[in-house]
Amino acid sequence: MTQRVALVTGAMGGIGTAVCQELAKAGHKVVAAYHPQFDNKDEWLKEQAAAGFNDFVCVAGDVSSLEDCQKMVAEAEAAAGPVDILVNNAGITRDRMFAKMEKDQWDAVISTNLSSLFNMTKQVSAKMAERGWGRIINIASVNGVKGQAGQTNYSAAKAGVIGFSKALAAELAAKGVTVNVIAPGYIATKMVMAIKPEVLQTIVDGVPMKRLGKPEEMGAACVYLASENAGFMTGATLNINGGLYYQ
Ligand SMILES: NC(=O)c1ccc[n+]([C@@H]2O[C@H](COP(=O)([O-])OP(=O)(O)OC[C@H]3O[C@@H](n4cnc5c(N)ncnc54)[C@H](O)[C@@H]3O)[C@@H](O)[C@H]2O)c1
Repeated sequence: MTQRVALVTGAMGGIGTAVCQELAKAGHKVVAAYHPQFDNKDEWLKEQAAAGFNDFVCVAGDVSSLEDCQKMVAEAEAAAGPVDILVNNAGITRDRMFAKMEKDQWDAVISTNLSSLFNMTKQVSAKMAERGWGRIINIASVNGVKGQAGQTNYSAAKAGVIGFSKALAAELAAKGVTVNVIAPGYIATKMVMAIKPEVLQTIVDGVPMKRLGKPEEMGAACVYLASENAGFMTGATLNINGGLYYQ
């Protein structure tokens, strides 16, 4: 297997950590991009070392800032080499019914979850195309596929992630670069465990498989999409949601 350089945003969150671990287990060199205000790099690195992962390179920045993304990718390239696999995973929610949603809640979710794809992907896609190989994996959500009350901002951003990916997939299809989406359902991360227990129980009851997804199940999907054997798949959305919703 060829070792590739994988850059993962939101790397120190619930899904991001599992994505880093699964990509590392698959033999890739992983660069973990994190937000210095939201993530504790030293603590995370300690936890990773305790779990047997000693080789992560870290780069810090805000994915909603084009400048920060330029800097993070330059640092990643200097430390690990050209980025072959980009996982756009960083994301936030600012849930509120639309009638009460403030403009800053809209803007924060659109810039972090959607404009970040412009900011990060812009730094790597042309170089992947020049080298004739690349994998861009974007993390959307079931709620971007089906729409969710209280999440007009998040559903719009995540639906935008899917549209972006289909369009870029078409642009890069002949260049050896694939662009695909993972649309997770409810996954057992801090983001979901913070939901009130009674609401969470209703959510789980509504999932045909009657459980939350595991972060490592998202990591395994990234490993597949990053693999040689996934080279014929592009513009696709993998709905990984326990049967909650599919098209
Ligand atoms: N947990 C779920 O059930 C679920 C379901 C569907 C989709 N998702 C999506 O999966 C992705 C990961 O979510 P998670 O559950 O691991 O959440 P999480 O909160 O554990 O992790 C999100 C990470 O993104 C980082 N981040 C947030 N804003 C950032 C910014 N401006 N710049 C850089 N980094 C930033 C955070 O620091 C954090 O490490 C998100 O895109 C989320 O929308 C999660």
